[in-house]
Parts: sequence; C-alpha cells; structure tokens
Amino acid sequence: MKVRKAIIPAAGLGTRMLPATKSQPKEMLTIVDKPVIQYVVEEAVESGITDILMVTSAGKESIRSHFDRNFPNAIHYKSKGKHELLKLLRGLGELCNIEYTAQKELRGLGDAVLCGEPFVGREPFAVLLGDTICTSGNEYPVLAQLLHAFTQFGFSAVALEEVPIEMVSKYGVMGGQQVSPGVYKASEWVEKPAPEDAPGNLAIASRYVFTSEIFECLKDTHAGLNNEVQLTDAMKRLLLTQEMYGVAISGNRYDIGNKLDFIKTNVAFGLEHAEIGGVLKDWISSIRS
Ligand code: UTP
Repeated sequence: MKVRKAIIPAAGLGTRMLPATKSQPKEMLTIVDKPVIQYVVEEAVESGITDILMVTSAGKESIRSHFDRNFPNAIHYKSKGKHELLKLLRGLGELCNIEYTAQKELRGLGDAVLCGEPFVGREPFAVLLGDTICTSGNEYPVLAQLLHAFTQFGFSAVALEEVPIEMVSKYGVMGGQQVSPGVYKASEWVEKPAPEDAPGNLAIASRYVFTSEIFECLKDTHAGLNNEVQLTDAMKRLLLTQEMYGVAISGNRYDIGNKLDFIKTNVAFGLEHAEIGGVLKDWISSIRS
C-alpha cells in the first residue's frame, strides 16, 4: 500500500531554546533563510507524501501562516513587480495538502502521534519530527529510504543512525539483526539506555513509517519516562505482534532543538549555500587564525 500521509509533531515547548521560543515555535527557527519546518515538509513532499497533518499547540500559529498561499505582504511584492518572489512564497502554500490539529495537553511525542489517528485512518503513514532536518547522502531523501524498506517488507521501518556508545542515553536505541546492508530486523527498542545496557549504538533518527496498528499500541501505552507517552514504548508493543525494521540512513540528521546543534546546523547549511558559502568559509578561517 502506498504511503501518502505524514504526521509532523510540532507541538513541543522548545524549552531548551528559550528565550528564542518564548513567542515563536522552535520549528520556525531559521536555518540560513528557511524555517526548520519548511525543510521537513520539503523532505516529505520529495519522498512522495501528498497529505500532511501538523500537530501543534498554542502559540504555533506562525507555522500555519508560513504555509498559507495568501499572506499580507503579497500585495506589496505584486505592486513592485517581484513576480518570482511572489511565486516562490505562494508556492509554499501549494507544496501539498497540510492540515492542522492541536495537541491539547503536551503529553509527549507518542501522544502527539496519536492525535493523528483520525487523519490517518487505517493506512500506513510517516512521522517526521518537526524540529529535525535530515539531509540525504544519496539521491533519495531520508524518508524515501524508509519508504523503500516499507515497500520491500510491508512492515514499519524506522530511521537509524550510528552514535558513539557513550551518547546512547540521549536516544531511543534499536537491537536487531542485519538482513541486508544497512537494513535491520528489530528485536528490541530501548528508550535512553545507559551505555552498558544498550543493545547497540543504532539510535532512532527522527523519521518513521508505521503501520496503523501503532495507534492501538499508543492507546495502551501509559506515560513513562518524564511522565510523557513515549513513542518508543508503543514501538515495543508493536514489536510483540509485528515485524519491524530499522534502516541506517544515508545522510545526516540535524536536531535544532538545542543551542549547540542549532548553531552547527546553521554553519553546515551556510557553508553549502550558493550565495554565502564561500564568504562564510573565508570568515570562519579568518576568526580561527
Ligand atoms: P522534544 O523531545 O525535543 O521536546 O520533541 P520539546 O518539548 O519540543 O523540547 P524541550 O525539551 O522543551 O526543549 C521532539 C519533537 O516532538 C514534538 C516537538 O514539537 C518536536 O518536534 N513534541 C514533543 C510534540 O509534538 N508534543 C509533545 O508533547 C512533545
């Protein structure tokens, strides 16, 4: 079955990025000249997703405005004859169908995904975290790499990245057997294990494709770590009844939800940017000497 729908959880508080996130969503923070959430939507669309549900909360209205075809300054750009710019900005409202729902209480990522059940129904679907950008190391976007595994096996597929073993306690971690290069059949999911208890160093990397049975698992999952409904706990339940796969992604994951990685992401994307990359590189060299 073709995966057409995606849920983008974007309701979180963004506490680690305060005060920047006091009155603006962290998903709208800028990487060079685009908000994080735009990169996420573009990855979904380039992977073949046609319908997106954005899970938001109070104070996140600017996300909807960003993807609106109509916007207050359009008339100004029109009168100045800036047609290319107008086309580009209006195009953000035409990338795909985007719907919005509110997560009523911030009860964790698992709860945010469960908010998408009425939108998804009984189809397989994708989840892309709204505060994390993935760049691809080959011709396929990271979500498309997962969709490929989903098509091959017909079961849920989760993005993985290798992390240093001493860092595993920051992530959900998979245990499993490699079935083809970079593809693993899962036997275990563990949320934030101590290095000595971890089944390996393959960490969950913010992109997922799920069968719709994950919703029943989420309903049966009580609040766990940090009093939040953990998506990883629901994945453990799903694994009791269905096969699940992990795909070591070709590419990089940039979590912009903390200060250091936010700055690193801006530098990495700035260096690749056609307009400013060269000058930025020279400037970085000059401040290092
Ligand atoms: P984080 O784990 O980074 O949590 O969420 P957070 O609350 O946004 O950030 P801090 O810890 O306060 O700094 C990962 C993704 O899951 C979404 C977030 O918006 C982010 O995209 N999320 C998290 C929800 O949609 N709802 C939640 O209840 C929690």
